[in-house]
Amino acid sequence: MSKRQVLVVDDEPKMQRILEIMLHKMGHDVLLAADGQEALKLAQSVPIDLVMTDLRMPGMDGVALLTALREHGIEAPVIVLTAHGTVESAVAAMKNGAYDYILRPFDVDAVEIVIRRALALERVQRENQFLREEVEKGWGEFIGRSAAMQQQYEFIRHVANSSTSVLILGESGTGKELAARAIHRASPRREALFVPINCAAIPPDLLESELFGHSKGAFTGAFKERVGKFEMADGGTIFLDEVTEMRPPLQAKLLRVLQEKEVERLGSNRSISIDIRVIAASNQDVRRALQQGTLREDLFYRLNVFTITMPPLRDRVEDVPLLADYFIEKYAVKLGRGRPTISTAALTHLQSYAWPGNVRELENVIERALVLGQGEQIDTRHLPPEIVSAAEPLASLAAPAPAQRLALIPAVEHLEKMLLSQALQQVAGNKAKAARLLDISERTLWYKIKKYGLS
Ligand SMILES: Nc1ncnc2c1ncn2[C@@H]1O[C@H](COP(=O)(O)OP(=O)(O)OP(=O)(O)O)[C@@H](O)[C@H]1O
Ligand SMILES: [Mg+2]
Repeated sequence: MSKRQVLVVDDEPKMQRILEIMLHKMGHDVLLAADGQEALKLAQSVPIDLVMTDLRMPGMDGVALLTALREHGIEAPVIVLTAHGTVESAVAAMKNGAYDYILRPFDVDAVEIVIRRALALERVQRENQFLREEVEKGWGEFIGRSAAMQQQYEFIRHVANSSTSVLILGESGTGKELAARAIHRASPRREALFVPINCAAIPPDLLESELFGHSKGAFTGAFKERVGKFEMADGGTIFLDEVTEMRPPLQAKLLRVLQEKEVERLGSNRSISIDIRVIAASNQDVRRALQQGTLREDLFYRLNVFTITMPPLRDRVEDVPLLADYFIEKYAVKLGRGRPTISTAALTHLQSYAWPGNVRELENVIERALVLGQGEQIDTRHLPPEIVSAAEPLASLAAPAPAQRLALIPAVEHLEKMLLSQALQQVAGNKAKAARLLDISERTLWYKIKKYGLS
């Protein structure tokens, strides 16, 4: 086993000495403390893999130390040592979360085994935590662990198993296409094609033949036969992006395809049966599109079997640091240079900006910052002026939705959430430190973290 750092806490120098020699012989580093207070201070300043503590000590005893360590987020296993005849107190320590106890005087070989086991456990715990943190960055290609995003991951996993049509709504750049691809990849159709088609990018006259294909000579310019996107997506998924841009007559035809599961190429009267899943997306207000007649109601109800709404980035500011980090890494690799850090000031600006272009806009801002700044740190001066000037934290409160502009409670919650996630970010998630920074109790911090679904 590799070298580990063990904290030995005992008020008797002789006992400290015995354990120190033993641990050195096992190849570990040893830190010594004479009481609980001193031990706690040490454990807060250096990483500790294992704590071995006497139970009865003047001042803070072993059980109190154990409790204090956990309160400070220090999860290293704790072995308590106690004199024969005081087994009850050892049992009490176990109930409080001690890993094991050793009765004194002890047998060196037996103690070695206990230490080895405790350190092995510690490693497993640490690996689990690492894996958990990796997972918690996001899901699949998604970065973001806000409650709002976790809800979307859940919806995606849930809907992926069926072949129901899905309508994905959300502002521009919120990850609608990413969600559509994730549904396809998580579905039993993953081996077949995911065929995206952007209804806004193809001239309306061409869209129909793009979707349905055509036979040779079907219309002027149809020089050869062409397979449509529906056929290509057979067995897989077709993604109709910006579906409200499709002309209503074509929408009616699309509806027929969905109902009859058959297509006919233009200029041919042979129908081909197809098995496709349709995912449609729009960044428009669909209710309005329905009222204005740009989206047919019958098609809407057919598509709207399951709706996923991707949350705007400003409603999940706690994901901004993770996303920024992810894009910094992505573009550092792409530009073939070292990975810069980002200053707290710059991050504050990013977290208080309203992001009308959502994740895509953030990605562009980070890419630009990396191109502009050749140094080791991204700072405010590498950010576009609209972000820096808009980011007076209080000014950005008006950003969320025009209708909410004067609503005090959402505005205050928005600010509170932002400050909390900033503080947590600054201290790398250490709750005790974050509470101190915010000048609130840890209990209050816990409550608020829960309330806002922060991590
Ligand atoms: N949660 C996320 N994690 C990582 N990258 C993301 C996330 N959301 C979006 N992106 C990235 O942001 C960009 C925009 O995403 P996407 O194209 O899916 O958005 P969209 O909602 O379809 O936007 P539009 O309405 O403008 O078409 C892509 O490069 C995508 O990879
Ligand atoms: Mg898109």
